[in-house]
Amino acid sequence: SSAPVTTITELGKHDGQIVTLHAWLYNLRESGKLLFPIFRDGTGTVQGVAHKAGVAPEVFEALKGLTQESSVAVTGKVRADKRAPGGYELDVQGIEVVQRVPESNPYPITPKEHGVEFLMEHRHLWVRSQRQAAILRIRAEIMRAAAEYFDTNGFVRTDPPILTPAACEGTSTLFPVDYFGDEAYLTQSGQLYIESTALALGKVYSFGPTFRAEKSKTRRHLTEFWMIEPEVAWCDLDGLMELAENFIAHIVQSVVAKHRLDLETIGRDITKLEAIHAPFPRLSYDEAVAMLNQAHKDGHLEQPFEYGNDFGSPDETWLSNQFDRPVMVHRYPAAVKAFYMQPDPVNPKYALCVDVLAPEGYGEVIGGSQRVDSYELLKSRIEDHKLPLEAFQWYLDLRRYGSVPHAGFGMGIERAVAWICGLDHVRETIPFARTLNRIFP
Ligand code: 4AD
Ligand code: MG
Repeated sequence: SSAPVTTITELGKHDGQIVTLHAWLYNLRESGKLLFPIFRDGTGTVQGVAHKAGVAPEVFEALKGLTQESSVAVTGKVRADKRAPGGYELDVQGIEVVQRVPESNPYPITPKEHGVEFLMEHRHLWVRSQRQAAILRIRAEIMRAAAEYFDTNGFVRTDPPILTPAACEGTSTLFPVDYFGDEAYLTQSGQLYIESTALALGKVYSFGPTFRAEKSKTRRHLTEFWMIEPEVAWCDLDGLMELAENFIAHIVQSVVAKHRLDLETIGRDITKLEAIHAPFPRLSYDEAVAMLNQAHKDGHLEQPFEYGNDFGSPDETWLSNQFDRPVMVHRYPAAVKAFYMQPDPVNPKYALCVDVLAPEGYGEVIGGSQRVDSYELLKSRIEDHKLPLEAFQWYLDLRRYGSVPHAGFGMGIERAVAWICGLDHVRETIPFARTLNRIFP
């Protein structure tokens, strides 16, 4: 047909006009002489209406009994309807079936309930569901807004390598790769490299995939995830915490402003997101531990917290549940944190670091710190952690030549998506999740 091609989100611009949609059949309800197909096109869904007496016989025949996920070019008249989810319906006039899914081999994901394993096996098709499509659109917005925050605040994006010669976040989660006979590793974090570019350019960030051979099965851990990491020269822990709260508030408010319908589709309580504004509450590790001990005494936490440990999942969940916005826990004991963290001059037992815990029980979304800036201290830390000194000579150069206080953090995109979308597992936060048990499809 000669009708202009448009998309479902743009239907409002064509009220009363005849348009063509390039779409798939999402669902079909038949009621005697009336057919109610629901089409999806990637931007949304719209219900069509076809009355046997109102369309050409071949159009009615093509639509009647049409199978789920058959691809179509459908032409019809746009009609405003207040009861319709997107505000419009389509009075079908013509249809061209591009590929009809055969009855003998129907689309495997039906509107009935399926188990998680079945859905993950069919992830390449599951992404077509309205809920999954909404999550992926929100993920894209989170990534866009995150990069936008740095791009518009004087940061230069500098991409670190993916193939690396040494560990950044501990040797127990490295993925080895054979590099022409030498052992290399998939990157765990771009941090060490952007410390270099920060001393060259001032304020920088990196954004890309990172890898960790996580051997535990949890709802928060992937083996391949995306991290955005800013690194700032002449910045201390206070400056870093201010950056983190403004950054997160910007991302959340961008999603709320642009993806209200998607948030509603997935059933998210939007009022909780609207409350996310800087400043965020700040707790020292010691203050957080005091809260955990009290919670244990009051019977809210089963396990007593052992001072000096990193927080476990139940601890983080309980802590983050106590606030209506992310809470920033700073100054953990240096002994449980990474080798590159600057000790607190007030008490070197503590590290100048911060974890940002998302509310509603989501836990850590950001980890960051001020970095060791003294050559001597960094060298002894590398030795204490039994890391190969040779591999870190270039990193030590950053403390040999014009060392300055500097700081940075990393935010895991999937953790942010899980929280902002209100999901109970990170497997739905990325198009194709990689976990301990899954590298398919
Ligand atoms: O706290 P992490 O390990 O910190 C770093 O990697 C620092 N080098 C970052 C920096 O300072 N530039 O990881 C940072 C964030 C975590 O807070 C979490 O959001 C995410 O990365 N993350 C994971 N997300 C999904 N699956 C995993 N296995 C993750 N490990 C970390
Ligand atoms: Mg961490």
